[in-house]
This record gives sequence, C-alpha cells and structure tokens, in this order.
Amino acid sequence: MKIYITTPIYYINAEPHIGHTYTTIAADVLARFYRMAGYDVFFLTGTDEHGQKIYEVAKTQNITTKEFVDRNSEIYKKLWDVLNISYTRFIRTTEPEHEETVRKVFTKLLEKGALYKGNYEGYYCIPCESYAIPEDENNPLCPDCNRTMSKISEPSYFFRMSKYAKQLERYIEENDFVKPDFRKNEVLNFIRAGLYDVSITRKNVEWGISSPTPENYTIYVWFDALINYLSGVGYIQNDILFSKYWPPDVQFIGKDIMRFHHIIWPCLLLALDLPLPKVIFAHGWWTSGKDKISKSKGNIVSPQKIIEEYGLDPLRYFLLREVPFGLDGEYSEEGFKKRYNSDLVNDLGNLVNRTLNLVETKMSGIIGNETPEITLANFAISVFEEYEKKMKAIAFSEALEEIWKLISFLNRFLDEKAPWREGCKNVAEIVNSTIYGIRAATIMLAPFIPNSSSKIWKMLGFDGDPGSKGFNLLNQNIPEGTKVNKREIIFPRKK
Ligand code: ME8
Ligand code: MG
Repeated sequence: MKIYITTPIYYINAEPHIGHTYTTIAADVLARFYRMAGYDVFFLTGTDEHGQKIYEVAKTQNITTKEFVDRNSEIYKKLWDVLNISYTRFIRTTEPEHEETVRKVFTKLLEKGALYKGNYEGYYCIPCESYAIPEDENNPLCPDCNRTMSKISEPSYFFRMSKYAKQLERYIEENDFVKPDFRKNEVLNFIRAGLYDVSITRKNVEWGISSPTPENYTIYVWFDALINYLSGVGYIQNDILFSKYWPPDVQFIGKDIMRFHHIIWPCLLLALDLPLPKVIFAHGWWTSGKDKISKSKGNIVSPQKIIEEYGLDPLRYFLLREVPFGLDGEYSEEGFKKRYNSDLVNDLGNLVNRTLNLVETKMSGIIGNETPEITLANFAISVFEEYEKKMKAIAFSEALEEIWKLISFLNRFLDEKAPWREGCKNVAEIVNSTIYGIRAATIMLAPFIPNSSSKIWKMLGFDGDPGSKGFNLLNQNIPEGTKVNKREIIFPRKK
C-alpha cells in the first residue's frame, strides 16, 4: 500500500516560524505513522521561490534573486533537518525539472482548450500573491490580509475554471476531500456562489517561469506552485514514479490557502484528466496576542528558541497536543511550560524513571518475559486500536490523549500495586507488566517524538529503534533477559 503526503511549499521571503514548522511536523508525524504501519510512503515538502513578493524582498538585499532564493531555501531545509523531518523529497520551484513540467502543463492545458487569452482588470495582493476583489475601490484592501492591493490591467491567459464547478461540487459532496468536516460547507458555498476563471500569467513580473507562448509572460506563481505536487512525483518526467504514487492521499495546508487548494488545484487536475487528491486537510492558525503569527506581521515565535530551551520533541509534542488539529490555537510560553511539565515531565518522564529505578534496585537490572498482567495487556491493545483510528482520521491530539490514557493507567497500576513496599512478593510480575505497557506507549509515541522514544527504548534495553519496528510488536512478550541501560532524565523539569 502506498501513501503520498504533502506540505505546502513555503515562501522564502523570510525565515520560517512555528506556523510553518507546525504543518511540516504534522505531515512528518503522519508519514512516520504510515511507515510504521507498513505503507510505502512518499512525503513531499519544499520551497516556493518565484513571484513578485520574493523578487521585491531580494532586491532590498545586496545579492541577486537567485542567490537570495538559494540561501533562504537552505534555511528551510536546514530547519527541517533540525526538526527531524523524514521527507522523501525536498522540492524547489527553481529546479529546472519543475520549471519544465510547469511549462508542459501549461502547453497541455492550452491544447485542451482549458486556457484562453483575455485581459485582466483588477487588483492584486502582493503579500498573498493573489487576485482579489476589494470591498472599497477607493481604499482597495486585501480581503484576506487587509493590506493595500495594486491595480493591474494587462493582457493575460485565463484558466477556464468555471467549467469545472459542477464536477468539483459533486466530488466534494460525495467524498471526504475537504477536511476537517466543518470546512466542507464553507467550500461548497463558495463554489455555489459561482466560480470565476483565473488569470494564470503576469505581464510585468520578471522573477518566474516564462510561459510557453509567443508573448513570454511569466506564469502566475500560484499556478507554478501548485504544480509542485505533480512535478514532485515525476509527472511527465518519470512515469513509473508518478503512476506509483499519484494521487496524493493527504495534503496538509493552513486554512489561509484553502481556496487555492480546495478549488483551483482540483479544477486544474480535472482539466488535466488526473485523479483528484483524497484528502486536503486545512489546519488552524497559531496566534499570538490573538493575531495570526506571520512573517509579514512580525509577531514571530521562533522554533529555534523553543528547541534551545526545551529540545525538539517537546515542541513536536506541544504543537500536536495542545490544539485539536483543525482549530486555531494561541501560543504562549506559559502554556508551553505547563504542558511540558505536566505531560512530559510528570506523566511520561516520571513513569519511565520510577519503573527503571525498580528494575535496577529490585531486579538487578534484568527484565523477564512472562505474560503481562491481563487487564493491563488488554488495555494497551484497546488504546492502540483507538490510537490507530485517530491517526488515520488525522486527529493528532486525540491520538495523543489515547496514549496518555495508557500512561495514566500505568502510573496508577504502579501506585496500586506498590512493588516497592517491604515484602512485596510479585515485584517482577508487576514491573515486567509495566515495562510491557511502556514499550507499547513508546512505539505509539515514535511518530510524534522520535528522538525521545528512541532514548526510552535504549534505556529499556531493547534493540534498534521503535520507529523502525512495526506496530505488531505491541502484543509480543518482552525478550527474555533484557538488560536495561543507564537511566537518564529525558525531560528535566522547567521552573
Ligand atoms: O502560502 N499558523 O506559503 P507560506 C499555522 N507558498 N500555520 C501557519 C501559520 C500560522 N500562524 N503561518 C503559516 C504559501 N502557516 C504558499 C503555498 S503551496 C502550493 C504554496 C503555515 O510561506 C500554513 O501551512 O505563506 C500555511 O498554509 C503555510 O504556512 C503558508 O506558508
Ligand atoms: Mg503566507
């Protein structure tokens, strides 16, 4: 079974902030989950490097636009390494293969009669790189970001999007394409209000892919960008790869770019006679002081700073645990610390630490392989079944809640059985059962906090890495005579 997962490709006009890391980490968690479940995963991410916005920012620096995009794309790529992102391919829209594919798609659409030449009269928002209609022509503000738009009037190629409205409407009604569910009507209402044809070239923008037409216009940056999901898996250039992974199974986006992804993108694919993506999931925004955290607003929360202070996994955990995936969330350092201390330090860290302490002091550091206590073993399996459902439904915070049910169960189990008490006769049975439960939690946690779960794994004395083990390990006994390793505190308490 294959699964093709994508993130948006990010504009590189400024450095990445926690908003970008959020989408990318979410995609990474799902990719890791499916790998562990035995799927063949293709995970695409990358950078969106053309257009007016990037050109103008590059101009303010003393380097060429090419040097600017090379440098900034590398910043994203490096951060993805720091975040432990297990992508299959990192695509850049300035790669020749991508540019080639975009031109070929343009030509294909021309030949199919899906494009026509006209005149664009209207407004353009440079920060959003979008054509939009202002409420008030005397003060033309972007309906999305509220910044002043420029008026443009120029000949342009249009994509006959209106033609696909009915077909798209039906696809959305009949499938789980728009996620989360509460977004579905929003998209349907937008389509039912009537779709316009969209301009897909710019006459006076020099930084972009030139159109394969006599006029040499520049291809509209969003048309160029959306095609990355095709070129990323070899459309036109690599038929074997493409037929293996197409269509996308889960595409992650923020709710700011739904219109491009839930409307323009599938219409382009309908025009190309290609199967549509299965799910496009629009998550909410991280806000700071109730404002969307944004590169151009300057209210940035830096992922590097959080990582320096807490480490990577607490960031990965917090982002997916704190807010139900799909809703907005307010970021605060207080909130972060609270979640860290209660979940990672008190619940998980403490469980591992006191269990290992018991193995060292009461069992000479050796774990045995007897069958775990039956209620505990059953509970672990029922948690896994729920976890699996939640992961497949892309309900990350709920999947984590399931794991925490097991962690709480294990903490209670130890408290009740109190194997540390004088004269306790079945210490080994209690502790081995707890270890069995911790191992199950560690395996389920591997997609979320891969480094920490690896560390716990090693301390427990197991071979390899939990992320490379399949989920079927969950209900097997612990290998006989497993010797635990030196204990360390994985999540130190923060004051
Ligand atoms: O839109 N909270 O790129 P972009 C949550 N290049 N997520 C956030 C966020 C926030 N405050 N801020 C940004 C583009 N994001 C285009 C995409 S795809 C063919 C082209 C995340 O750099 C979220 O995923 O502006 C959002 O959709 C994405 O970053 C936008 O990144
Ligand atoms: Mg943006």
